[in-house]
Amino acid sequence: MLTKAQIDSEKLNPGSPFFKNALAPTRDETKLLSLLDNLGKLPSGFNGELLVPLLAHANPKIRTLAVKNVGKLKNEKFLTELSKFAANESNTFARREAISAIGRMRSQKAIPILTYYLTDTDPKVILQSVRALLYFKENPQVQTALNSLREHPNELIREHLASEIDQKKSGRQTGKKDPHHPASPDALKNVIIHADVQESLKMIPDESIHLTFTSPPYYNARDYTIYQSYEAYLDFLTAVFKETHRITKEGRFFVLNTSPVIVPRISRAHSSKRYAIPYDIHPRLTDTGWEFIDDIVWRKPDYAAKNRNGGFFQHRKPLGYKANSVTESVMVYRKKTDRLIDWNIRQYDDETVDASRVMGDYEKTNLWHINPATDKVHPAVFPPELAARVVQFYSFKGDLIFDPFGGSGTVGYVALTHERYFLLCEKEIEYVERANQVLNVNLFAHTKPRVLSLIELKSELTERN
Ligand SMILES: C[S@@+](CC[C@H](N)C(=O)[O-])C[C@H]1O[C@@H](n2cnc3c(N)ncnc32)[C@H](O)[C@@H]1O
Repeated sequence: MLTKAQIDSEKLNPGSPFFKNALAPTRDETKLLSLLDNLGKLPSGFNGELLVPLLAHANPKIRTLAVKNVGKLKNEKFLTELSKFAANESNTFARREAISAIGRMRSQKAIPILTYYLTDTDPKVILQSVRALLYFKENPQVQTALNSLREHPNELIREHLASEIDQKKSGRQTGKKDPHHPASPDALKNVIIHADVQESLKMIPDESIHLTFTSPPYYNARDYTIYQSYEAYLDFLTAVFKETHRITKEGRFFVLNTSPVIVPRISRAHSSKRYAIPYDIHPRLTDTGWEFIDDIVWRKPDYAAKNRNGGFFQHRKPLGYKANSVTESVMVYRKKTDRLIDWNIRQYDDETVDASRVMGDYEKTNLWHINPATDKVHPAVFPPELAARVVQFYSFKGDLIFDPFGGSGTVGYVALTHERYFLLCEKEIEYVERANQVLNVNLFAHTKPRVLSLIELKSELTERN
């Protein structure tokens, strides 16, 4: 088999017969595939005609790689060949490559062909055509053709058009800095709001916070909050997370720790009911404008699970199996934006970015083994290690981290120890007091932690801003 170095050195000799032999369609398929895959950048004098017979090869992988290499030449003279190829090709990968190759020519002559493929059945072929046509977006015919896709059933096509046409038309430059992005209102820094979360949220200005990490109440599985129905519970969470979306800065993260819960049976004649909270809340979040980013699984040790196996262990009869639950879900969302994460990072000065780097070893998979934690006052705290990972992975030093269901203040504690600010809401006075105790032990805070009522928060916000 030829090495990459040999291929590169042959590319420097456009006159040599080497490629004529090496790219002959009758050649061994493995060798052809390897050569086509390793051709790399093609020099301007490369004889693209040698690739044309391979477009009719019986092996679709060879056809795909051949068309990809023709595309590298960006030469209009292959337009007819590629157009015929796309029209007759049955392999979807090869067809996509053909449209991409036609697009790369950036030729006016390609416009009718690319426009034709806007009605293809393969959304990826359409996207390739859209991308290529955007180069000619000043052309009124192209504009009309692209606008006809605004209501296309495929979400990626709709989103791509919206970001490419609307955002750029409105002058929204993806590279521009927003000086307010790293900042947050002083009145909200290191504050525990002692109030109902929905009332508290109403007072918080738009785009004030950088990250939310929270673990909401567990429906009616514990005794501190009783909802009329599961639907009412989900409606409540949806309303809270919609407001959280409003107060979150552009493109920033929301991390939600939940797990399915069991509401115990009323009597032995009934069965217990299991509610799949993470799965039921997920579509509500994406509808609210949170973009799904990652599903992390928090794995607890086996001993941490309530044993649901007793009966099955004895009888071993099918259908009676119940898994002990050793995981919780840590779902990661981002406030939907057309801006890339790089844009968010660029909002910070180099010193802050450097100081916030996650150094040393870190978990590379979405399975996080962390022991659960307990607290002498609060019955359902999450472990500081869990919060520490979230805070380090999804915020910068100096950011404001929000927990709408603050409990004993774990998020606040971790925010302070990682040189971030916190904002917590908690309605139960005993947990507020516990959080205040936990947070005042910590000496890292420049701004001393304060407990504020709604009235106090209101006057702070008016005074300071
Ligand atoms: C699962 S606990 C959070 C525990 C927290 N992560 C910790 O580590 O301590 C949920 C908290 O939400 C609080 N909560 C429930 N409903 C609330 C509401 N409407 N407004 C404010 N807090 C509420 C509960 O009192 C409880 O402390």
